[in-house]
Amino acid sequence: MNTPPQGSQEPTREPFIPALRFRVLTRAYDALLSLTLDEERHKRALIEQAAITPGHAVLDLGCGTGTLTRMIKTAHPAASVTGLDLDPEALGIARRKAADAGLDLAFVQGSATAPPLEPGSFDRVLTSLMLHHLRREQKQQALGAAWSLLRPGGELHVADWGRPQDSLMKLAFLPVRILDGFAPTRDNVRGNLPTLLRDAGFADVAETRNARTVYGTLTHLRARRPA
Ligand SMILES: C[S@@+](CC[C@H](N)C(=O)[O-])C[C@H]1O[C@@H](n2cnc3c(N)ncnc32)[C@H](O)[C@@H]1O
Repeated sequence: MNTPPQGSQEPTREPFIPALRFRVLTRAYDALLSLTLDEERHKRALIEQAAITPGHAVLDLGCGTGTLTRMIKTAHPAASVTGLDLDPEALGIARRKAADAGLDLAFVQGSATAPPLEPGSFDRVLTSLMLHHLRREQKQQALGAAWSLLRPGGELHVADWGRPQDSLMKLAFLPVRILDGFAPTRDNVRGNLPTLLRDAGFADVAETRNARTVYGTLTHLRARRPA
């Protein structure tokens, strides 16, 4: 059984922006993404860049309905994989999907800003489409927490909305900004994620990919906690 190293077991009640802004829409999230985003291709690219090896402990931070978590474990069965999210409903969907696929995954309810997990216990932290749900100070807290959760030399791999490549991508991102809020998406649209990563103490920060999507520019980044 895959058991993540945990701290407090108390459910976290911090306010958060659900996957599609309104809780009632969470159950439609998977269908919407697979129809509109070519989701598996982007998530596969993030997993490939993470270069996970057997025995690695991997965290999917803000795992939502657990698609990336499931894909990590399928691609790397000898890694121990944990998903963390604040939304109990999304976690319920994630757990059902893992059970249906017969995958041994651990899911933890908690905030990315103060994860109830043991510092220094992960080799890789992956996070997809969560950071744009967080305001500046929450992003800083979550990136600081990701740094602490990693072992020295461990890596963070991010997929999230980045600075639009052109005015069409800027326009495409507008519905996301209206839905998820202008404040939490501001650092994304301004292309500030690399700076926030460096400010959190990460080294070797690099943008690895900028993909055009119907929701704007999807940026992948990598960063390393210095050894
Ligand atoms: C758009 S969904 C992305 C889900 C998944 N990672 C993916 O790539 O499809 C954003 C997720 O971030 C979660 N979230 C928002 N604020 C959070 C926080 N402070 N801590 C943990 N998860 C959070 C939401 O509950 C939601 O499941």
